[in-house]
Amino acid sequence: MTPTWAQLAYLVAAVCFILSLKGLSSPKTARNGNLIGAVGAVLACGTIFFARDLDHLLPILIAIAVGTVVGVVGARRVQMTQMPQLVALFNGVGGGAAALVALLELRHLVALSGVGAAPEFDLAATAFTIVIGGVSFSGSMVTFAKLQELMTSRPVTFPGLPILFGGALLACFALSVVMVLDASIWSGIVLGVLGLALGVLLVLPVGGADVPIVISLLNAFTGLTVAAGGYVLGNTVLLVAGTLVGASGTLLTKLMAAAMGRSLFNTLFGALKGGSTLGAGEISDRPVRSAGPQDVAILLGYAHRVIIVPGYGLAVAQAQHTLRELVDVLGEKGIDVDYAIHPVAGRLPGHMNVLLAEAQVPYEQLKEMDEINGEFKDADVVLVVGANDVVNPAARTTPSAPIYGMPILNADEAEQIIFMKRSMRPGFAGIENELLFDPKTTLLFGDAKDTMGKLLTAVKSI
Ligand code: TAP
Repeated sequence: MTPTWAQLAYLVAAVCFILSLKGLSSPKTARNGNLIGAVGAVLACGTIFFARDLDHLLPILIAIAVGTVVGVVGARRVQMTQMPQLVALFNGVGGGAAALVALLELRHLVALSGVGAAPEFDLAATAFTIVIGGVSFSGSMVTFAKLQELMTSRPVTFPGLPILFGGALLACFALSVVMVLDASIWSGIVLGVLGLALGVLLVLPVGGADVPIVISLLNAFTGLTVAAGGYVLGNTVLLVAGTLVGASGTLLTKLMAAAMGRSLFNTLFGALKGGSTLGAGEISDRPVRSAGPQDVAILLGYAHRVIIVPGYGLAVAQAQHTLRELVDVLGEKGIDVDYAIHPVAGRLPGHMNVLLAEAQVPYEQLKEMDEINGEFKDADVVLVVGANDVVNPAARTTPSAPIYGMPILNADEAEQIIFMKRSMRPGFAGIENELLFDPKTTLLFGDAKDTMGKLLTAVKSI
């Protein structure tokens, strides 16, 4: 029985989690939101040590110490651009841990069912936790491997994959029913293995461009697993936290799929229909117009209205500070400048907002896609810094393109378009961008930080 004071502490922790989500919903309050969530997590974890007489205290403390060191070092070292991989790893170990806890709890339920006292609903929740925890673990590991380029990020399919997937799914259902009717450790272990196989089969056919949606979906799965685990263990705070993660993960999945113009079904199973969800990635040798920093500075210096489109390359080059300086100088010259933020620019939700906030760009200058899309036609110059897919007109015109249907920034409507990139290589979706060959387009080749520095000097001198 959990003492009243501990239940109150859990309640406070749950309130912290809810306030944390509220805080995370706006860039201005996100830092505080994160902190409040961390306080809630520490409170919830600390409470269990005083609320119960724990066996195996030493191994538990050692495991916590190891986990803390790995977590702190990993999170401190990771580059912003590698954040999706870190999220995939953390999410995977969360789901895996919940599945292991459920397997251990199954031992008690098996003992109870021996005397006819195991509640069926607990057994069903345990089966669910084992399977979905397994899916979450192995699915997250495959997404990690895809993002880290340890394996191909293209969809991996083979004949019979849908049948294998369907068969594994049916076997999970059947075995879960068997487990509820006649609980045994073996049925739990086989369910775990089936869950692991399902996770791999679920993620293999997903193309690299859609991996972020899948991470978010697996995150929702982990939440549901933890919630079910909380039910089995009779732990309210796990139930609440898991439900919050499950619900917010589901909403984020829906929002990301909508931002990429894809249905969730198409994201997960599109490749099985024969169409690839990732392009071929060839580099074109068609002629383009390129210029040096001096020419581009003149275009910028004589503009009235400039819109900046930041993308993944800005984060790679870490050119956000120099970009802000450039925008400040343009502002001093009386030029009206805004940043156009595409919802999936970069590699993680809110990537550009975080990156530009780090460079102290005022929030008022950041305009969401819907807000700014009508303004491109009045812009003299659009400066596309390390972005590609988010301005690629193929999203509107080429039904076979993996990004077809994704709403894009209307950069093509501006009078002049300048792309800052290193080469003619495509963006994340691996497809050519017709806008690079547009007569209105000028390319400023080079690493964004390096060329941005030269551009800044050139703009200052005119
Ligand atoms: P991308 O389409 O990936 O284009 C990035 C561009 O940056 C490339 O053209 C690359 O060209 C250039 N670049 C890379 N390093 C650079 C450097 N050091 N200096 C200058 N340029 C550099 O990026 P985007 O427009 O931001 O679109 C995001 C894509 O990622 C979308 O397809 C989206 O679906 C996907 N995605 C999004 C997320 C989220 S949630 N935001 C997560 C994962 C994937 P060069 O190589 O020629 O320099």
